[in-house]
Amino acid sequence: MKTLIVYKSKTGFTKKYAEIVAGEVKGDLLELKKATASQMAGYDVIVFGSRFFAGTVDELKKAEELFAASGAKEFVVFATGATPNAAEDIVNDVWKNSFSSEKIEKIPHFYMQSGICYEKMPFGEKMMMKMASLMMKSQKEKDEMGQGFEEALKGSFDISSEEYVQPLIAYLKNR
Ligand SMILES: Cc1cc2nc3c(=O)[nH]c(=O)nc-3n(C[C@H](O)[C@H](O)[C@H](O)COP(=O)(O)O)c2cc1C
Repeated sequence: MKTLIVYKSKTGFTKKYAEIVAGEVKGDLLELKKATASQMAGYDVIVFGSRFFAGTVDELKKAEELFAASGAKEFVVFATGATPNAAEDIVNDVWKNSFSSEKIEKIPHFYMQSGICYEKMPFGEKMMMKMASLMMKSQKEKDEMGQGFEEALKGSFDISSEEYVQPLIAYLKNR
């Protein structure tokens, strides 16, 4: 089973999970920004790893287009975010915002809580977080965005763990 893990990672959480997956399934790793359809051709499974970004999966559309053009057989998605795994409703809303209703049924997708890292965050994205923090004054607004987001406005934190990637690894090994 030839597996390629294509990932986008700005602050390292998604990359770390992608590397664990690649090690476990003996897959190859490729950054999305360097990926072409021809590089993805010939793989049985393309695993796309990205982050939750303002309520959607960052660059999912681009990865789907590359997958479609590549002729690879199966597409699987995983995403990381500041939202805790336990906040299932928030996580499910992000999946719904990211996939069409038809694709959400067909494409296996996995979420792994990760955290936030201001030290490695690009300047423009730090500004986005600052603006979100200024715009969301009331506790009610913060509650609606969920606990992960409120934590993210306060500062860096890491709630990632190798255990959260195990369901994806089990899926890939048993398919
Ligand atoms: C501007 C911005 C928006 C974000 N939006 C969300 C979000 O909507 N939901 C969420 O759970 N995490 C959100 N995050 C947190 C990232 O998804 C999280 O830190 C992710 O693991 C980063 O992945 P990376 O380290 O691979 O770049 C956001 C982070 C930034 C900087």
